[in-house]
Amino acid sequence: MIKAGVIGHPISHSKSPLIHGYWLKQYGIDGEYKTYDIAPEELESGVRGLVDAGLVGFNVTLPHKQNIMPLCKTVSDEARLIGAVNTITVLKNGDLHGHNTDAFGFAQNLKETVPDFKWDGATATVIGAGGAARAILYALYQNGITDIRITNRTRESAENLGAAYSAKIVDWDDRNSSLVGSDLIINTTSLGMKGQSPLDINLKGIHKNTVVYDIVYAPLMTDLLQQAEQQGARIVTGIGMLLHQARPGFEAWFGHFPDVTPELEEIILGIN
Ligand code: ATR
Repeated sequence: MIKAGVIGHPISHSKSPLIHGYWLKQYGIDGEYKTYDIAPEELESGVRGLVDAGLVGFNVTLPHKQNIMPLCKTVSDEARLIGAVNTITVLKNGDLHGHNTDAFGFAQNLKETVPDFKWDGATATVIGAGGAARAILYALYQNGITDIRITNRTRESAENLGAAYSAKIVDWDDRNSSLVGSDLIINTTSLGMKGQSPLDINLKGIHKNTVVYDIVYAPLMTDLLQQAEQQGARIVTGIGMLLHQARPGFEAWFGHFPDVTPELEEIILGIN
C-alpha cells in the first residue's frame, strides 16, 4: 500500500483527499491519501512522523508552504523562484524534495480550456500580489508572456513581486484602465469567493478575445466571470487550477500521470 497525504492547519476542508482518492480508484492503485493536521510549532516533528510512517510524499498547504522549505534537502528551481512548496517527495533515505505545482496547474487549466490562446506576445493583467499571484507570474513568464501588469490594493507588494518580471504596476484606483488592451486578465485574490467581499472591477473596456480567468471556484461563476461573459469575453474558471496542480504529485507518488475529467470536476464542485 503506497501512502501519501496532505499537511495543513486546519486541514479538514481540504479537497485533496477526494481528488487523489478518485484517481486511486480510477487507476486501481493500492494506495491511500489522508489529511494530517500539523500545528506550525510541530511542523518538523510532524513531518518526521510522516516519513517514519512510510509516506512516499505529501502535499503542503496553509500555513506551511514557506516553512517547509528549510526542512527540504532539495527544492526545485520553480519552487524556489515562487518562494513556496506545495508538493513533497520523500526520498529512499528519508530526505525531502520540495516542489511547487501551482504554476503548472494554473497554466494547464488555461491551455485545456482555451487551447488557441496565444501566449507569446500576450499582455496580461494580474489582480492581486499575494501567494497565488507569485505562482501565476512565474507561469506567465515561463509560457512566454513578458508584458505583465499588476494591480494590487497595496502597491508596495505589487512592486516587490513585479520587479523580477519587469511588470508594470498600476495603482489600485486605476485598475479598470489597466484592463484595456489586456489579452488575459486574472483574479489571483480571494475576492468574490463565497463569504468574501466582491471584486470591485469593471470589464467594460476589454476586447472580445480577452480571456478572463478567476482562481476562485466557490462559486464557480463569480461576478467577475459573469461580467466577462456579458462582454463576450472567454472565461476560465478556477476549479481546473485546483485539479491540475494535484497531477504532478499523484504521478510522483503513485506512478501514473492522472487525467482531469468532467466527472472529477463535478464531484469536487458537488461538495462545495
Ligand atoms: P493568497 O496567498 O491566496 O494569494 P494572500 O497572500 O493573503 O492570499 O493575498 C491576498 C491578495 O488579495 C492580496 O493581493 C491582497 O491585497 P493586499 O496586498 O493589499 O493585502 C488582496 N486582497 C485581499 N482583500 C482585499 C480587499 N478587500 N480589497 C483588495 N484586495 C484585497
